[in-house]
Amino acid sequence: MSEVAAKPAKSPNAPTEERVLTVKHYTDRMFAFRITRPASFRFRSGEFVMIGLEQPGGKPLLRAYSIASPSWDEELEFFSIKVPDGPLTSKLQLIQPGDTVLLGRKSVGTLVHDALVPGKRLYLFSTGTGIAPFASVIRDPETYERFEQVILCHTCRQVGELRYGQDLVAGIGDDPLVGDVAPGKLIHYTTVTREPWPNQMRITNAITSGRLSADLGVPPLNPETDRAMICGSLDMLTDLKEIMIGAGLTEGSNASPAQFVIEKAFVD
Ligand code: A2P
Repeated sequence: MSEVAAKPAKSPNAPTEERVLTVKHYTDRMFAFRITRPASFRFRSGEFVMIGLEQPGGKPLLRAYSIASPSWDEELEFFSIKVPDGPLTSKLQLIQPGDTVLLGRKSVGTLVHDALVPGKRLYLFSTGTGIAPFASVIRDPETYERFEQVILCHTCRQVGELRYGQDLVAGIGDDPLVGDVAPGKLIHYTTVTREPWPNQMRITNAITSGRLSADLGVPPLNPETDRAMICGSLDMLTDLKEIMIGAGLTEGSNASPAQFVIEKAFVD
């Protein structure tokens, strides 16, 4: 028998160690980063996965992050908030290319096509970094096979926080899978709440005031034709859920697909 204690074997479910490839800071509150993707890692557009950092002498610190890259991409991208004293993001915002990030093995989530019944128009309502899952959904060919029109709504506090979504939509025509179909079907509708902007209001106000329908030239929300995926803060989810239910839409899940689905955007 050896007297040297063997290093405990890692559980087969333990997160994998991935390498940071790029980091891009958009504002003092938001940044995006890309990491290596294990060949075995599969996900559905719109899902989230646990991401985190090893802690000296402690358990790894992990939080749920929506995957922002499309499912065909060889790398994984994430779009994150920076919370000054947030347990994970205060450290994660300091990562550099070459650093190691932990990646959970399994992705899950409700912002997926499987949780919605067929419809004509898909609304993707997001605030802040809640746009991340939709960055993946708008680059999924299935999105355009299932819907005639895709309306990506993004509300941020400041104009600079819209940049991530603006760059993404500006480049969608060059996308290898949806470049032909997305430009004719995808609409990007932005609102800003704390700086001057053509639509300076919360998306909730834009819906209830009729401004959104008027600006887009579409009828008010209708359970016959409209489906919605919603991602943002808890307050935003509560308010939008009330608006969806008020319009006659019912909430769906993977087990029971229906007309809208919601998920909280990561916060600390
Ligand atoms: P506001 O500036 O009026 O709070 P946050 O960064 O706090 O998650 O907010 C992102 C965006 O979501 C902000 O523009 C914010 O507007 C907006 N927002 C916050 N709460 C709600 C809500 N309950 N309904 C709709 N939009 C919201």
